[in-house]
Amino acid sequence: MRSAQIKQLLTDLDALLVAHFYQKDSIVALADITGDSLELAKKASASPKNLVVFCGVGFMGESLKILAPQKEVIMPKLACCSMAKMLEGADFDKSLETLQSLGIDHVLPITYINSSARIKAKVGKAGGFVCTSANAFKIFKHALQSKQKIFFLPDRCLGVNLARMHGLKSATLELDSPDTIKEAAVICYNGFCAVHQLFKPSDVEFFRQKYPNILIAVHPECAPEVVELADFVGSTSQIIQFVQNLPLEQKVAVGTEINLVKRLRPKNTFVLSSSVPECPTMNETTLEDLFGVLKAYKNHSPYNKISVEPEVAKWAKVALDKMMELS
Ligand code: 13P
Ligand code: SF4
Repeated sequence: MRSAQIKQLLTDLDALLVAHFYQKDSIVALADITGDSLELAKKASASPKNLVVFCGVGFMGESLKILAPQKEVIMPKLACCSMAKMLEGADFDKSLETLQSLGIDHVLPITYINSSARIKAKVGKAGGFVCTSANAFKIFKHALQSKQKIFFLPDRCLGVNLARMHGLKSATLELDSPDTIKEAAVICYNGFCAVHQLFKPSDVEFFRQKYPNILIAVHPECAPEVVELADFVGSTSQIIQFVQNLPLEQKVAVGTEINLVKRLRPKNTFVLSSSVPECPTMNETTLEDLFGVLKAYKNHSPYNKISVEPEVAKWAKVALDKMMELS
């Protein structure tokens, strides 16, 4: 019933429905576009439709609005990724002060797309880049050409994982000693995704003992000790592709959000954890929210319209555009 009404409203409004893979099945089933953060930003900004209804977390709708300011972007729920919330503009400034107090005057910042527009703007102003999990390796490699120390934020796990893949020393603010920070080529902000922290090396050991030929696929937001043990590391889209290309009899345990994992394959697919890795903010959006936001828009009383202050949008776009050019 609700689904049919939503479809009708989308048609009436000529709106594009975009959903991240972590959204509930009921939402994903209705979406015109699903994808990882990079694909959603690319495909939604390239769409001819002017009205975009974004089912995801705040930074995703915000990034689209910055990349395609002519579009009207509305979100059924203004849910904020808890990792993005860990880093306010003042934290960025304070981190740079800490680095300066250690004698580190110049760093090249790279912010994961899971951050606010304000952070992206600060990074853009400082000559840095945005990256997503799908293009992080490429952006990181490019940034290394500058020969500067990298300041990676807000996800310490992604930062440490990238440093390790490039054979570089890394350190995390608040966690590592001043000497370790001074020696590191990659300095990370101390943010993390609570959902991906649930996956442990002991989970990998458990599955490998139980099924000796099992493959382990994880998202790069997982802890470095888990990523090191995995057979495959990739963005949500890359994980889906990896699993779908496996023969059905090949067992695989996947370390990412549960809605995605449950949708992957009818058999031989396991969640790499005994706890439930559910992203609370991604799961906030319901069919009722989607129906409500569309109905209000149709009745000329829109809410949850995404807007970004012009000065913030200008500099955030600089960092996002650089990422888009490189990916
Ligand atoms: P992807 O860009 O891989 O979809 O990741 C987004 C995210 O929030 C993962 O937790
Ligand atoms: Fe943010 Fe983690 Fe949820 Fe991804 S899974 S949206 S990083 S809280």
